[in-house]
Amino acid sequence: MERKTVVIGVTGGVAVYKALDVISRLRKKNIDVHVIMTESAGEFVNPLSFQSLSQNMVVTNMFDEPKHWEIQHISLAKKADLMLIVPATANIIGKVANGIADDMLSTTIMATHAPVVFAPAMNTNMYLNPIVQNNIQKLKDYGYKFIEPESGRLACGDVGAGKLADTELIADKVISMLYPIKDMSGKKVLVTAGPTWSLIDPVRFITNRSSGKMGYAIAEEARDRGAEVTLVSGPTSLKAPFGINTINITTNEEMLNEVLEHFNSQDIVIKAAAVADYKPVEYSQNKIKKASNELVLNFAKDTDILKKLGEIKQNQVLVGFAAESNDLISNAESKLKKKNLDYIVANDITSSDTGFQSSENRVIILTRDGEKLSLEKMSKREVAQKLFDIINDKHKEV
Ligand code: CTP
Repeated sequence: MERKTVVIGVTGGVAVYKALDVISRLRKKNIDVHVIMTESAGEFVNPLSFQSLSQNMVVTNMFDEPKHWEIQHISLAKKADLMLIVPATANIIGKVANGIADDMLSTTIMATHAPVVFAPAMNTNMYLNPIVQNNIQKLKDYGYKFIEPESGRLACGDVGAGKLADTELIADKVISMLYPIKDMSGKKVLVTAGPTWSLIDPVRFITNRSSGKMGYAIAEEARDRGAEVTLVSGPTSLKAPFGINTINITTNEEMLNEVLEHFNSQDIVIKAAAVADYKPVEYSQNKIKKASNELVLNFAKDTDILKKLGEIKQNQVLVGFAAESNDLISNAESKLKKKNLDYIVANDITSSDTGFQSSENRVIILTRDGEKLSLEKMSKREVAQKLFDIINDKHKEV
């Protein structure tokens, strides 16, 4: 296995000592670990402990005499295959989110092209402070990763979210990012994402609140596991993901055509899109003018794309989503049967912190043979991971 380098940023807080355990776990996997400590982290644990465990010099000061001809923060930024900030304080999160680079750690984070993962730990009120939460969201939107803290009793005696995630879990996540499983090489996966638009006239349309995030996360997970991915996407504000054949469509009909064109060659088809069920009976070529006091539009049923796929499917594994506001399980079960699916991912769209616009989701995965797997609230990418873990395990022959 190719040797990888992780640069660990340690910032000040009572959880500093836990970073030692993360380092020891990474070292056991023969990962080259370099540590940058902030000044306040050094107040909690002596940098010597980090030096002994990482077996590399610990960097604390941007103005240390460079060991080589290279500028140190640039050299570590280049060397890193991944940067892990553990524990990450509100201060470092705030600095990076706002473009401040004033010490060795913040300059290195700013200068690296490697993925950066934050494992926050702080007092629960600090963690829940909207400023901190906004900074976290801002960083997530830029592509920085977070390993969410746990809830529990904190050092200050308060109880709540803010406790550093389990060190084994942190190390495992880092290892899986460095050495991703390529268990889908040679497989073809088609994913649909986002909403569709039902066009009324040249300037108006009806749509829904789907953000496309769930479908994009699924497509990206399949890509990272080695699959050849086609993404048929309705209008979203998301960027076309790197390395994925992304086809942009607007209407139900356009999605249907693209999906049908690719369907036969696919191994797995996942329909995460929120497809419009109805469209106006007549599309007005001209902009509808404001005339009478009431405007009545007639809608006709549009194609149920997934149902059609269920009718023509051969060996494809077919996965649908069920967005429900009531009777989650029974509605999902009946969709699974009616559309001849292998799996359905059911989610309750009434919850405000998960679902449509959110980056997180809480879902239940139902299988054709009646199994139900209830997942806790997690990021949409983690939902995608679990979904493929299940599919790949059950459909080894696909
Ligand atoms: N779907 C589809 N074509 C449609 C409607 C839905 O392909 N015209 C797919 C969705 O992509 C999703 C699944 O069917 O994977 C279920 O979608 P959902 O909107 O939850 O259910 P519907 O079948 O539309 O039923 P209802 O709106 O009555 O709940």
